[in-house]
Amino acid sequence: MLIDNGLEKVVAAETRLSHVDGLAGELIIGGYRLDELVADRTFEEVAGLLLASYADTPADIRSAIGKARARVFTRTSNLLPQLADMPLFDAMRTALSTLPDGNDINAALDLVAAPGTLLAQLIRQSSGKKLIDPDPALGHAEDMLCMAGLNTSAEAIAGLNTYLISVIDHGLNASTFTARVVASTDAGLVSSVTAALGALKGPLHGGAPGPVLDMLDAVGTPDNARAWIDNELAAGRRLMGFGHRIYRVRDPRADALKSALNGLRSDRLELAAAVEREALAALAIHKPERKLETNVEYYTAVLLEALGFPRDTFTAVFASGRTAGWVAHALEQAATGRLIRPQSHYTGPLPQRAA
Ligand code: CMC
Repeated sequence: MLIDNGLEKVVAAETRLSHVDGLAGELIIGGYRLDELVADRTFEEVAGLLLASYADTPADIRSAIGKARARVFTRTSNLLPQLADMPLFDAMRTALSTLPDGNDINAALDLVAAPGTLLAQLIRQSSGKKLIDPDPALGHAEDMLCMAGLNTSAEAIAGLNTYLISVIDHGLNASTFTARVVASTDAGLVSSVTAALGALKGPLHGGAPGPVLDMLDAVGTPDNARAWIDNELAAGRRLMGFGHRIYRVRDPRADALKSALNGLRSDRLELAAAVEREALAALAIHKPERKLETNVEYYTAVLLEALGFPRDTFTAVFASGRTAGWVAHALEQAATGRLIRPQSHYTGPLPQRAA
């Protein structure tokens, strides 16, 4: 029996949705390279591209996702005050899990719309401000910023749109695999996405960008960068925003997000660039046998902060983009009709009594 802890060498699904080339540093989503998509597509268009393989998507996907934001808001706004004491990500996951489960296009659209809508409302609620109703006529990125009461300049809308597309799908990562496992039991899309949210939350996956800002805060000034980094590595701690299971070169999403910062005000850019430079130099010495490069989370942290999202909301913003990918993967897995059920190798005690 072959045991592969971490399933690194296991190919567990066929997919039409996205391909990650870890040696070339290329991400293909629905047949397009990431840089092509962020150049001229909206988040809704790319979500529609993914869903269209497995669902009858409406012709006007922007308006359909807008109407889904309004449905999600109506269904969940009375619940949100009861979740006020929970960490924001957990409150978002809990509210999302109350949506009606199913495998139809309305369930799919509600899920694509839900994290961005809920996250915005929870940001308002946590700062004691009145909730702002969704405006179904707006694009998804613009309405997320409006509902959260953040800057809605053209640069901010474009920056969030680029972010949502950049994280929309990424091969068989831990949360997408989780979504597919749940979908394979025929549980429904809401169950798949709720489970995937749990997998996304950890710092080895979507929970890293908050800690990236903590790191930049701790470094303080570019002069301190190398000493701080060397100290962390010597203590056996990992640098957040670096390394990846698949990429052995720079994550292409890092470049897309760095470019999206053009035109946005960020006090962090100079420090972030210095820390990145020093981190890459230190990691090359620390782990010469393993190429550890900048991953998506590093510039996610800088971009989302520049857009005005509070640090504890970053993983929820990640989910606002990734949910479209999870839903498409769940539909793709369900279409195979095959239960995912691997085996384990028992290492526990054996019964002492003879049978
Ligand atoms: N800083 C220092 N050392 C590292 C780092 C890092 N960021 N990443 C990997 N290593 C070391 C690791 O300690 C291990 O060393 P050893 O063999 O001596 O134990 C070696 O490199 C190989 O690491 P691994 O744990 O086998 O690699 P993995 O493929 O399981 O992990 C990772 C990938 C992303 C979990 C890891 O690189 C990491 O923890 N990075 C920091 C957290 C982070 O940035 N997370 C966001 C991931 S990108 C978002 C996404 O696409 O989900």
